[in-house]
Amino acid sequence: MKPWLWLPPKLAHDFSPWAIDLYSLFQSEIIPTWNSFTWKNLVFKNRLGLAGGVDKNADHLPAWSRLGCGFVEIGTVTPLPQKPNAGKIFDRSVQDQALWNKMGFPSAGAEEVFFNLKSFKESATLPVLINIGKNRTTANELAHVDYVQLVHHFHSVADAFVVNISSPNTSGLRDLAKPESLELFLKPLAESQRDYDIQKPILLKLSPDLEPDELKRILDSAVKHEIDGFVLTNTTLARNTQKQFPTEGGLSGLPVQLQAKKALKVAVAHLGSEKTKKLVISVGGVMTAEDVFERISLGADLIEVYSALIFSGMHFFRKVARTAHEYKQEPTN
Ligand SMILES: Cc1cc2nc3c(=O)[nH]c(=O)nc-3n(C[C@H](O)[C@H](O)[C@H](O)COP(=O)(O)O)c2cc1C
Repeated sequence: MKPWLWLPPKLAHDFSPWAIDLYSLFQSEIIPTWNSFTWKNLVFKNRLGLAGGVDKNADHLPAWSRLGCGFVEIGTVTPLPQKPNAGKIFDRSVQDQALWNKMGFPSAGAEEVFFNLKSFKESATLPVLINIGKNRTTANELAHVDYVQLVHHFHSVADAFVVNISSPNTSGLRDLAKPESLELFLKPLAESQRDYDIQKPILLKLSPDLEPDELKRILDSAVKHEIDGFVLTNTTLARNTQKQFPTEGGLSGLPVQLQAKKALKVAVAHLGSEKTKKLVISVGGVMTAEDVFERISLGADLIEVYSALIFSGMHFFRKVARTAHEYKQEPTN
């Protein structure tokens, strides 16, 4: 029974923050650790985490921990607070197992999110990745200033950064991944790390709509600038559902599954021996436990979900943990 799917999509979405906190409070069972993983001193109790966009302002971190997440990606956080795009910004189709959104980085802004994260980090060890994005009023030529500012702002509390240059909902954002912009964009980001003794990994979150050659070129630039990993992928502008969604905005869930898997395969093959040094996170259309273990078999180090939480429910992390032994994912405690 999934009563939230009876509610209108936007109402269910607005109601979910309270539901997450409440539901998690009633979870007393200890979630089995599976296939734990250590990378650059970060310890992941399991490989499954929360995708960017679910907990944009780091408001629910204790709840994710109780629900059995191996890690959480918060954000997208922008330097200054900003409201969502005007008009309709969220919809779903149960028959297509699809979510549609045109949110455009609604964010409480760096100051408030820092405060939330700092309080959580004082007593918790759950790895938290911070997904960062530019304010919509910042021109692309100055985008790097927003991103570098966010890296400095969150450096003391971040376990890693996810640089979002792939949302289709901030005008021109995907242009930052084009050859003429990418080098200029990555250089100051990489340099921002040199100010610190302890460096925090920087990952790039990329679009599923890239052609394989475009993806390979971005990977090459990123490797050159010592970017530490990749989150593959964001939502798609492609349309392959029975329900007619607007042409703008991004689709998640089953409609992005094939593209996300293809991007993962292309990246793993192209990175070759370099892959052992990089963190590759697969996200997009992971709807079942079987999908999680398939992504691991395809070379993903970590997996993230958003849509599965809507269509299966918040017990998804627990369900995967319970199934892990069937996929020979060794328990580690
Ligand atoms: C409503 C909604 C909001 C999202 N917001 C963000 C965001 O702020 N930043 C981001 O990097 N990705 C965002 N995403 C994309 C997800 O992180 C993920 O890449 C995408 O949904 C594919 O995963 P899924 O098929 O498991 O949903 C959002 C997705 C949805 C459905």
